[in-house]
Amino acid sequence: MCGIVGYIGPKQATPLLIEGLKRLEYRGYDSAGVAVYDGESLETRRAAGKIVKLEGALAADPVTGKVGIAHTRWATHGPPTERNAHPHLSSDDSVAVVHNGIIENADVLRKQLTALGHTFRSDTDTETISHLVQELYDGSLEEAVIGALRKVEGTFGIAVVSSRDPQKIVAARKGSPLLIGVGDGEYFLASDASAILAHTRQVVYLDDGDLAVLTPDGYKVMDINASPIRRSVERIEWDLEAIERGGFDHFMLKEIFEQPTTVGNTMRGRLILEDGTSKLGGINMSHEQLMNIDNVVITACGTSWHSALIGEMMIEDFARIPTEVEYASEFRYRNPIVTPRTLCIVISQSGETADTLAAMREAKRRGAHTLGFVNVVGSTIAREDDGGIYLHAGPEIGVASTKAFTSQVIALALFALKLGRKRTLSVMRGREIAQALDALPKQIQSILDQAAAIEKIADSYKDAHNFLYLGRGYNFPAALEGALKLKEISYIHAEGYPAAEMKHGPIALIDESMPVVFIAPHDAVFDKIVSNIQEVKARHGKTIVITSRDEPALEGLIDHEIRIPETVDMLTPVLASIPLQLLAYYIAVKRGANVDQPRNLAKSVTVE
Ligand code: M6R
Repeated sequence: MCGIVGYIGPKQATPLLIEGLKRLEYRGYDSAGVAVYDGESLETRRAAGKIVKLEGALAADPVTGKVGIAHTRWATHGPPTERNAHPHLSSDDSVAVVHNGIIENADVLRKQLTALGHTFRSDTDTETISHLVQELYDGSLEEAVIGALRKVEGTFGIAVVSSRDPQKIVAARKGSPLLIGVGDGEYFLASDASAILAHTRQVVYLDDGDLAVLTPDGYKVMDINASPIRRSVERIEWDLEAIERGGFDHFMLKEIFEQPTTVGNTMRGRLILEDGTSKLGGINMSHEQLMNIDNVVITACGTSWHSALIGEMMIEDFARIPTEVEYASEFRYRNPIVTPRTLCIVISQSGETADTLAAMREAKRRGAHTLGFVNVVGSTIAREDDGGIYLHAGPEIGVASTKAFTSQVIALALFALKLGRKRTLSVMRGREIAQALDALPKQIQSILDQAAAIEKIADSYKDAHNFLYLGRGYNFPAALEGALKLKEISYIHAEGYPAAEMKHGPIALIDESMPVVFIAPHDAVFDKIVSNIQEVKARHGKTIVITSRDEPALEGLIDHEIRIPETVDMLTPVLASIPLQLLAYYIAVKRGANVDQPRNLAKSVTVE
């Protein structure tokens, strides 16, 4: 999604802004720009395409100055051209604005401002803000921004600079994240901590409704009525290394290989082997509250929705509490049955996904207790939920979610275990599951050791046009996730199905050119899936089978086999997802796709 960076201090702003933008590249964008105050006026440089183009524009026509804002844009209103790239200037060039989010009443404002004599130079909704600020300026930039925001409907994270009040950056948020980086005699603004981590670990997260003014001497936070607000300075706990490729060809590959560690980190200090349960300090729920849950609703999008499906089965299996999973985008607009005895779990890597955040707010409004299973510390969902579990998977840079998925499943398993042990799950069964969880990091490593063999399999399928992914029980969501990984990074059409559903339609697609990935570990439904493999083979489909032991029943049915270790049924999707991620990755690389920044995709989707 779009990215914002700002700098004010004693150094040259442009190189710091460009460096910050590069750190945000992973979020996805299609144009970029900067605006710097050069001592007399605001100078902007913008370019369609990658940041390297913007660097070219700056090399050809440099800008100097110690106050500036910058942006990477992911097109919504108007195509990704230079004229639509941010920052956007007001008619008299005195105000520059960068903006994440959507101004819903932009058309009305545009008409009003045009009638007042303002000339628009882009197709964007954002440009209305710069004209409004110019119109309302009367000696104080923050007052003009406050006036403008009173007229604006929609969501925003904005940064504004003006040549009429040049020693300031004014920022505001409503629905789009922003933080202040507190340096040594310098201040940064960013939509994501990665942009500024090289310069400071001290950050102030802004909340919705906050407005901040940064000057070379400090910063202040206020509300829309200009009343001061105190916001604490927090410390970012991860290192720069976490957002660098560290010798891997792509972030995605690095993140796949990090999973023995990240899965371990999600469990660290939480798993109680002896009692077969878990300790989850952050959920903020008493024994009584946990015992009084009538039903659980889990809501999420994309990959997080897939982990939710696994969580649903675990909670029903371990704790016998009716659980349903809802796409956040659907949940927010229907009339779901939610009561004060409903527990609503929201799952999100970024903690900023607009639909998921809105679904959580809706569940809260209806009286549910909300828990956020979130990776990004300090993100909006993590700040607004009633409690939650941080994944501790570290920053996930690759657009295709990998390590966050496995950590989400682990967090759900820990929670289901705790809930189960309070209710119906025996200590013996609890211990068995806890031990299986504990064994996962080593088991994941043993699968990663087979990466070269999986890369070879990818060779055979890099030119495929379609793929089917089939699994049953706990591995149906793994099939959905495997298909999503492949389609989003390789652009091969792929579908995930419960294996038995194949005969109700998709079987018509099977011929010698259709690769079918079966997730068939030796679990409770193994015998059932063997018949589905036979059905594919009988129609000359190509089978790639992920299984866990030598099985005579599979003889003659497998074109390519990938072996995963054995574990309890509910954890098989964690192990199965590793070869699925590797397969998708190697196929995409062999097709020459931009794995870390797939076309049309953004790392976190902060618009509806
Ligand atoms: O940050 P979130 O987990 O809320 O993101 C949800 C989806 O946008 C995300 O999982 C998306 O589907 C990924 N690209 C999948 O790899």
